[in-house]
Amino acid sequence: MEGDLRERLLAALAWQVELGADEAIAEAPVDRFAAAVTPAPPAKPTPAAKTAPAPHGAMLARPASGAGDAAQAAREIAAACDTLEALHAALAAFEGCALKTGARRCVFSDGNPAARVMVIGEAPGREEDMAGKPFVGRSGKLLDRMLAAIGLDRTAEDPDHAVYVGNVVPWRPIENRTPSADEIAVLLPFVRRQIALAAPEFVVLAGGTPAKALFGTETGILRLRGEWRRLDDGPLALATLHPAYLLRSPPAKRHAWRDLLALRAALDGEAPALD
Ligand code: URA
Repeated sequence: MEGDLRERLLAALAWQVELGADEAIAEAPVDRFAAAVTPAPPAKPTPAAKTAPAPHGAMLARPASGAGDAAQAAREIAAACDTLEALHAALAAFEGCALKTGARRCVFSDGNPAARVMVIGEAPGREEDMAGKPFVGRSGKLLDRMLAAIGLDRTAEDPDHAVYVGNVVPWRPIENRTPSADEIAVLLPFVRRQIALAAPEFVVLAGGTPAKALFGTETGILRLRGEWRRLDDGPLALATLHPAYLLRSPPAKRHAWRDLLALRAALDGEAPALD
């Protein structure tokens, strides 16, 4: 190969790596952004969908006008799903969020949907995108150890010991960036419906993105953590620190430990003080 051509190809490769490409998945490149990303047509709402409550945090999570149609479609599609399986399929088929174009898999859930506790993270990373399951990488391993410390295990069959795990965003953002406010607003109806269908007693919001989205606030997680709030008329939710943050800031583990003990106490029947 001509030295000049080699240099140019290496420069093109370096540029792609800078953009976030970290592996080759096919011989030939595919321009997924060339495919139009249009909101799926709204599903016919069921009676339940018509009476579904307004989204919690809708004021803060209101999308910009372009995303508004997609958010409306998402609300109608999610409300029309009566099972978690139907919701998973509807989300995987949803075309209203461009994050889908850069991801390999729709990462919906792991664990036991009958669990008393549901954990909601931010978005899949590289390992999760490859495995199709949330929290399987380093932060997932820490999450499993944290849960084990209070007697919970996402592989458990017994709802008392089990955990159900999901994310606010089911597609890996390129370069693991934080999902934008519009992306979250469009996808929020799906995670809210996932919570409603799984109907856990307690929801753990792991990190600022799920805590802000589901509490409907702009307050940062370092202030929010430790707070309990009721989500609509559903479960009580506890905001805590994301395991990835704990890996970067080990001294913060003592705060997370306090939150875990509060969750344990709630599971054991102590009523959490609501904020
Ligand atoms: N971080 C998250 O918030 N979710 C995952 O699934 C993995 C890492």
